[in-house]
Amino acid sequence: MTDPGPTNSDGYRLGRDYAAASRLNLQHFMYKDAQGFLLHPVIQTNLRHKQESRETGSKDLLHVADLATGTGLWLFDLVKSPEVNGLDIQYHGFDISRALFPHDAWLPKNVVLSTSNMLEEPPQSLHGQFDVVHLRLVLSLIRSDSPKPIIQHIKMLLKPGGYVQWDELDPFNHYDVLTPNLDSTAPNMTATFQKIKDLADWSWIARLPETLLEEGFQTAVQYPHEPAPEMFKAWAHMDLCLAEELSLNWNGRDDEDGKAWRQLIPKAYEEADNATGAGLRIRPTVTIARKPL
Ligand SMILES: C[S@@+](CC[C@H](N)C(=O)[O-])C[C@H]1O[C@@H](n2cnc3c(N)ncnc32)[C@H](O)[C@@H]1O
Repeated sequence: MTDPGPTNSDGYRLGRDYAAASRLNLQHFMYKDAQGFLLHPVIQTNLRHKQESRETGSKDLLHVADLATGTGLWLFDLVKSPEVNGLDIQYHGFDISRALFPHDAWLPKNVVLSTSNMLEEPPQSLHGQFDVVHLRLVLSLIRSDSPKPIIQHIKMLLKPGGYVQWDELDPFNHYDVLTPNLDSTAPNMTATFQKIKDLADWSWIARLPETLLEEGFQTAVQYPHEPAPEMFKAWAHMDLCLAEELSLNWNGRDDEDGKAWRQLIPKAYEEADNATGAGLRIRPTVTIARKPL
């Protein structure tokens, strides 16, 4: 990784590298735990149907892409998952940077990772190649902008009848600090995570189904997925790391606002301890839609 980011007084590198990569991997398992699947069951059924309807003797593979794949963990987990047992799939991971990819020598033989910018038109060779395009957690890339350029990129990649699955955090609607007792409050944790809600206009996330329909997709639906309460503390700890990371670099620099934000974080950790028992309930949203046949 080229930008080591700021350091703390011990010289430990914070922000965008070691801690952020580890947090992405942990986040993968938290999302999977809340969602209960990697690939939406409707999409699993569609892939099975496609494979069964192949002409006898055909060796045609199904193609699944993961955009902004980061460490590639969603793909690596899917390859081994019972969700895709018996399906002949070639997996493709794309990201603007190779920084978090494992070395090619360590990849499963049916996984290829390459660089690609999803804000630009994909190369002609990738048009109409994929049965499924998945993406997760690209909100910090879109911020308050429109997701339409990314939706157009996805549409170009999909075969007719192919599915998009977009797993996203919605800080406006599904991001709440909870305490176990009505008489206890967690003002520092609430203020810490309110800052994430205030960083951008996140309303495009709840509107994803209607935006997909506007862009010519069909049967677009979105569901939030409820995490188990025993995971609230783990979500809080994970997103306190995220808050620290964002406080250092959201504006491209560590400013006074970032410093004030960071002062809340140790107190928020204390509120997560059992005396208060505060936790963060994140309900990951899953949006799926189909490109017309
Ligand atoms: C928060 S990470 C999510 C990684 C992965 N989807 C996951 O859920 O673990 C965002 C990823 O988006 C990638 N990214 C940022 N801008 C991009 C772009 N224009 N095109 C493709 N990938 C991009 C980053 O390199 C990073 O790996």
